[in-house]
Amino acid sequence: MLIRRLRGWEIPESQVTPEAVMLGRRAALSGTVAAITAAASPAQAQWLNLLGGGSDAPAKPRPALTAPNNPKFVAGRAITPEKNAITYNNFYEFGTSKSVSSAAQALNTDPWTIEITGMVDKPKKWAIEDLLKQVQLEERIYRHRCVETWAMTVPWTGFPLSKLVEMAQPKTGAKYVTFTTLADKKTMPGLGMRFYPWPYLEGVTMDEARNDLAFMVVGMYGKTLPPQNGAPLRIALPWKYGFKSAKSIVKIEFTDKRPVVFWEALQDSEYGFWANVNPEFPHPRWSQATETLLGSDERVATKLFNGYGEYVAGMYKGLTQERLFM
Ligand code: MTE
Repeated sequence: MLIRRLRGWEIPESQVTPEAVMLGRRAALSGTVAAITAAASPAQAQWLNLLGGGSDAPAKPRPALTAPNNPKFVAGRAITPEKNAITYNNFYEFGTSKSVSSAAQALNTDPWTIEITGMVDKPKKWAIEDLLKQVQLEERIYRHRCVETWAMTVPWTGFPLSKLVEMAQPKTGAKYVTFTTLADKKTMPGLGMRFYPWPYLEGVTMDEARNDLAFMVVGMYGKTLPPQNGAPLRIALPWKYGFKSAKSIVKIEFTDKRPVVFWEALQDSEYGFWANVNPEFPHPRWSQATETLLGSDERVATKLFNGYGEYVAGMYKGLTQERLFM
């Protein structure tokens, strides 16, 4: 995140608004940006779009999507107020600010197809509604920790990634699962920032994909996912930094080659493939020791593997040569 390769339209890092100020001023700002946008020239409007404030689209309706809560996953802290979780986002396809929720309403999720491909015995293009008929939905309350040191606690609705792996029947040589997300120039102004390596791509090992915690998400707070949080299908990998949790997935590929993921392709000295949360391993430009909970001023200590070590630590034993925490 916050990779500074300044182009003409970018502002220097010294002028970036601090997160807390941004959170407190969002309501006021969205009104202001809407007013400026109305009076903007096409070039100015595009600039505002890239910052994520250039659209004033009303929020799409989110039908109820309830599923039984899985009591195994206890967050141990208060659930983040929904309004914070759905208005403070990272979705670079719609702009680089956290206020992309309006711009993201342009995301067209109907129809939506997910292609299962690569080293599998059962490749298939699923219409999302058909895929959902094959799985049992459940609710899980997970902690989410962004590499930028903000965090939230969210009730996600979805199904285990392991179920999808089982349906795809991977060949024995498959070692990784990659997730490619939508890249639609017509609706995603961020794709105009050509130095980013679109499409947004993420990946995990087969072990990680089969881990109990890896969760395919189609809803939050008892409703379908809003566009800005990755409708209609995203992943949640709560022991890893949030950038691993790819949004608006269109392709899932099984491969024997480790993918170079989006942020790693952009800046591999700061972001890597594994990205497991570790408070003792600082980002090259900031500490990872603590985090701010969205919707509060509280700053709390970050935990190794975001507190999910009992589920995942075993997968990394012996990987001493790997950069596991970036
Ligand atoms: N997926 C896509 N396609 N594009 C993105 O920019 N940002 C990532 C991740 N998935 C991102 C993405 C980052 S950095 C984080 S922290 C989470 O989405 C944020 O998810 P949220 O907006 O639902 O909180």
